[in-house]
Amino acid sequence: MKKHSLFTVLVATLIACTNSQNQDHMTNTSEIDKKVDSLLSLMTLEEKIGQMNQYNGFWNVTGPTPKEGDAAEKYEDLRQGKVGSMLNVRGVEQVKAVQKIAVEETRLGIPLIIGFDVIHGYKTLSPIPLAEAASWDMDAIKRSAEVAAAEASASGINWTFAPMVDISRDARWGRVMEGGGEDPYLGSKIAIARVQGFQGEDLAANNTIAACAKHFAGYGWAEAGREYNTVDMSETLLRNTIFPPFKAAVNANVKTFMNSFNELNGIPATGSSYLQRDILKEEWEFDGFVVSDWASIAEMVPHGYAKDTIQAAAFAANAGSDMDMESYAYVHHLKKLVEEGQVDESLIDDAVRRILKVKFELGLFDDPYRYCDEMREKEVIGSKENHEAVLDMAKKSIVLLKNDQNLLPLRKEGQRIALIGPLAADKNSPLGSWRIAAEDNSAVSVLEGMKSISNSVTYSEGCRLLAGEADFVWETAINTTDKSGFDAAKDLARSAEVVVMVLGEYSFQSGEGRSRSNIDLPGVQQELLEEIYKVNQNIVLVLMNGRPLAVEWAAEHVPAVVEAWHLGSQSGNAIAQVLFGEYNPSGKLPMTFPRNVGQIPIYYSQKNTGRPAPVAPNQVFWSHYIDVDNSPLYPFGHGLSYTTFEYSNLQLDDNSFGKGGSIKVSVDVSNTGQRKGKEVVQLYIRDLFASVTRPVRELKGFEQVALQPGETKTVQFIIDEEMIQFYTANKKWEAEAGDFKLFIGGSSVTSLEAAFAYTDK
Ligand code: BGC
Repeated sequence: MKKHSLFTVLVATLIACTNSQNQDHMTNTSEIDKKVDSLLSLMTLEEKIGQMNQYNGFWNVTGPTPKEGDAAEKYEDLRQGKVGSMLNVRGVEQVKAVQKIAVEETRLGIPLIIGFDVIHGYKTLSPIPLAEAASWDMDAIKRSAEVAAAEASASGINWTFAPMVDISRDARWGRVMEGGGEDPYLGSKIAIARVQGFQGEDLAANNTIAACAKHFAGYGWAEAGREYNTVDMSETLLRNTIFPPFKAAVNANVKTFMNSFNELNGIPATGSSYLQRDILKEEWEFDGFVVSDWASIAEMVPHGYAKDTIQAAAFAANAGSDMDMESYAYVHHLKKLVEEGQVDESLIDDAVRRILKVKFELGLFDDPYRYCDEMREKEVIGSKENHEAVLDMAKKSIVLLKNDQNLLPLRKEGQRIALIGPLAADKNSPLGSWRIAAEDNSAVSVLEGMKSISNSVTYSEGCRLLAGEADFVWETAINTTDKSGFDAAKDLARSAEVVVMVLGEYSFQSGEGRSRSNIDLPGVQQELLEEIYKVNQNIVLVLMNGRPLAVEWAAEHVPAVVEAWHLGSQSGNAIAQVLFGEYNPSGKLPMTFPRNVGQIPIYYSQKNTGRPAPVAPNQVFWSHYIDVDNSPLYPFGHGLSYTTFEYSNLQLDDNSFGKGGSIKVSVDVSNTGQRKGKEVVQLYIRDLFASVTRPVRELKGFEQVALQPGETKTVQFIIDEEMIQFYTANKKWEAEAGDFKLFIGGSSVTSLEAAFAYTDK
């Protein structure tokens, strides 16, 4: 132990000396860069490679040390400075224990960076990211990430593997729950809000953590929505649709990136120097580091790209994948590969510099135990304030899809309300997927939430949820056979004035590895819904799900439909406040809801095609299906309120602009109903002809306005070159001269429009 503290002194002295000796030479590099270089100059090749190695938490750190197998090997590696990071070690006691080994037992005492999937909160859970996206409220989303960072950092964690900014238009893919939906513009705004929320103003503060933009790139485009499947796409699509949120994250100073499991155009993303070096590190000048996805380096072998893990290690390191998560490829093979000249040591230096830099920025060299404060851990995690914040986020994430005859809001008194459905009293499903640190069954259920507001609620589950057996086995999560509870539920519905049915997906029916080929209501739920409808049509359907669902029957028959996603710890309170009108819903869909699976991929920003409509009645040769309409069940941007909004007086201060110019657009939005409410005013643009065909509509701006009954506000947008730029046939991000249309309204199908031109002069 003594020997190691001596080394620590030696390192500190060397850093100081190198600093003063090289002062002139390094006038342009930041203080941190100088420290990084000094430290790097002291490191052996093996120690450098150690920084590039990340291990999963492998034993109860505060218990006896492991003696056998993998765990023993990893433990020994940690002691020898061959580990730069760990994931899934959490809690101050545990983190302190591993950090102590890194700092006190290794030759150079370099602290570990501790990663964890803080996806939608740590212990106090926010709504799943797709739900948060439905709020279109960037301040709220940022605040939610701040709360997540505060709790995770209080638990010893200093790095989250979030935000996932993969654009996806395939609701079969289970991971849509983890992203911001289908649109690159909205996705970019969310990426910025979440990165800023996690990282804050000061990364070294003890309540902020490093963020990670993932998965770079194309993961959301897995063929047929099947998890980990092949991805093939044009550069046009990549540049215009997939890259923007990643680029936005870089601009927001995100500290790390994660590559992805998929291959992209024949090359696994983990081995792609096009993605990691050419685009990310050169074109975008990203100066943080890239972590591989879990074992994605080794998976280049089954991909059929590398012949063995040794070659995979070389490919990944050469391609710019800086840290190896759980492939053991770098720790086992990289030294030899460098010695044989297959990987240049300068690339290793570059990777290690990037990793050390983030560690310095996190303040880990000043105090490796900065995030290990037991007092904070007790105070911050699960605090009242955090629960209030996630409740606020949850309310804002709810989308009112349908509300015929104003069935909603419900009356708190004097209305007999039957609450039915396997998810109605469930305290686990609302937590959603990705909530490793949360306690199972810790969410407020809808039943609890409604009972806390009204005494007129009676409950019957209708069909039993197989909760205990459900985790990780999605087939058994919602009952597929047992209808024994139907009769009791029908009796209850018969005697009620209104029936609230809570149906949808169990928490682990979406998320990683949970692709579905059918996205209807699982199990016997559809049948239950139709049976109840036979005895009482006054149904409010509350959907709980991690992805868009194809619920065409419900959308046609049921008078009120509320999209409540998986809303996290405060789910039931948020839903109840919306159902009883204490909160007027304001969410808008971040992803199109299809009528059926066959329409997928379905998204609002589609291309027009050469045959967008029939040229004569009954003509068949146009782009359509013969068995379903082209329109979605619910379009992107859709969401109702308990009040109504009207748009009028759309005005442009000019009908064309040139280089460096702009047009001011304004529209009046009025609250024409009886309640105060919030509306998301959306601006879409269509570029009518271009060197590469453009979508029929693209979201280019939005603003949330709060209006009292009878109130009108004027909302303004500025149209400039940046707004109309795209990746053109010149292979450049630029604006092209031409004619445009703009549309403003409360969803992507709004009809209020105007025209303008860009002259390029
Ligand atoms: C996921 C990543 C995640 C990692 C670590 C992988 O399976 O794809 O998104 O961050 O595991 O848990």
